[in-house]
Amino acid sequence: MKSGCQKYIPFTPISLPDRTWPDRQITQPPVWCSVDLRDGNQALVDPMNLQEKLEYFHTLLDLGIKEIEIGFPSASETEYEICRELIDGGHIPDDVTIQVLVQAREHLIRRTFEAIQGAKNVILHFYNSTSTLQRKVVFHADMDGITKIATDAADLIYEMSQPMIQAGMNLRFEYSPESFMGTEMDYAVEICQAVLDHLHATPENKVILNLPSTVENCMPNYFADEIEYFIRKLPSRDCAIISLHPHNDRGCGVATAEMGLLAGAERIEATLFGNGERTGNVDIVTLAMNMWTQGVDPGLDFSDMNKIKEMYERTTKMPVGDRQPYAGKLVFTAFSGSHQDAINKGTQWMAEHDSGYWEVPYLPIDPADVGRQYEPIIRINSQSGKGGAAYIMQQNFGYDLPKAMHPEFGAIVQKETERLGTELLPQQIFELFDKEYLSIPKIYQLERHRLHEDARHGVASAVVFDGEVSYRGKVMTASGEGNGPIDAFFNALHDLPEGHIEGYEFVDYKEHAISSGSDTQAVCYIHLKDPKGQDVFGVGKSHNINRASLRAILCAINRSLLTAQE
Ligand code: KIV
Ligand code: ZN
Repeated sequence: MKSGCQKYIPFTPISLPDRTWPDRQITQPPVWCSVDLRDGNQALVDPMNLQEKLEYFHTLLDLGIKEIEIGFPSASETEYEICRELIDGGHIPDDVTIQVLVQAREHLIRRTFEAIQGAKNVILHFYNSTSTLQRKVVFHADMDGITKIATDAADLIYEMSQPMIQAGMNLRFEYSPESFMGTEMDYAVEICQAVLDHLHATPENKVILNLPSTVENCMPNYFADEIEYFIRKLPSRDCAIISLHPHNDRGCGVATAEMGLLAGAERIEATLFGNGERTGNVDIVTLAMNMWTQGVDPGLDFSDMNKIKEMYERTTKMPVGDRQPYAGKLVFTAFSGSHQDAINKGTQWMAEHDSGYWEVPYLPIDPADVGRQYEPIIRINSQSGKGGAAYIMQQNFGYDLPKAMHPEFGAIVQKETERLGTELLPQQIFELFDKEYLSIPKIYQLERHRLHEDARHGVASAVVFDGEVSYRGKVMTASGEGNGPIDAFFNALHDLPEGHIEGYEFVDYKEHAISSGSDTQAVCYIHLKDPKGQDVFGVGKSHNINRASLRAILCAINRSLLTAQE
């Protein structure tokens, strides 16, 4: 892009210096209306067939959505048939309202009335374009001409609706001044008020005024100003439900919807995962879950996000991105070491404190809320830090590595990720641990041993080690005495006739039980300093706790000798 942006006309915001919306908060959910089956469907390369639409419709019901725009029945035979199948097939629960869209044109309105015969609850949604640009380049009409299109349609709709309402249909009306965002606000108020009048709206029979950002062409705060201004100026405010229909051309659909709610809107039209024309409609999942994370129950059920995602991807043939908020494959996964460490600490903190709140850094939401508890939160690649691999060993395999050992094992894992150039899966991490610690080649090996402990009240206990240790395959007897099994074994190694071990210093030790099925074993971690003062760790595992610690000592020594040989 070398030049040329001067060809774009910047948006002119309205002046609203006494705006109040920035100081408000969202404390309750809006009325949700799904437009997946209309705006979403009309934007698909291959629109859904009847079966797919029905499945989608039932998913929307399961989510708890009560107003669903099912299509544009006057637009094609297929759309008409789908509308009829939903009504005649008994798919619509009594507490759910279907919405049908129609342009403000007589023959289409008449056809739409045919399509909704027999339904219990219906919103008849009609629209015409009102923006400055559309009036100029598409309709070649002035404001009065555009208003007449809307009011003529309103008159016809009102007239045609009366017998149906009298026959018991709960039929409501919705009007959209299409391209509202780019319409002069005083004119938007004028045309909407005219429509309210022609539809005989009252506080008891409110009309939905749906204010779309058909093309999102300004920042969300400017849009919020428009909404606050519109609401203030609308004479029959009490006869209208203010609805928003944000698109996402600037990538701000969610912010536009949220700020619009602050500015006084009461209803939102949206789609799952933001499907819809061009960059899509606003994403209902993100909107609802954003409320959830602020302690506001959106009244929608996203507890099985993977199921919803699977249905969506199959029926729309559109993928949900790996980074899609709340739903993407990677959104609950931390690769970065410092993030992993903080998540680890947050999880521990929550286990130790019963605050009743979700307090885990880097995870704005408990993955379990959207049914994602079973996948690894922490995944290991070359960017991961020392704590990540230890977390995997603990969470997946029950090995609780001492903190001081995390850097050593973390470095081993990192080297392997760099060598492979890919992520390491938990099983691969365990195999690395096994190779590095449990199945390390044995320069020294414990063949047999007996420990004798002489413990008397008030006197430091004395332990005698007596056994056989092999060095490079040659078996030797070994014995030593100390204040505990580890000390006694160390002394025995020191006195070996061949390959005696010198210069190692014991630093620390940790052990715990580890179970798999009915089998429980002890795992011991030993921290030594080698003769050069370098830290080295060993791990031993056995059904016998002493044997586990003696194995861990030899493991550390074997590892240090093998490193020296490399
Ligand atoms: O985006 C839009 O303006 C629409 C209208 C028909 C509501 O989809
Ligand atoms: Zn739209």
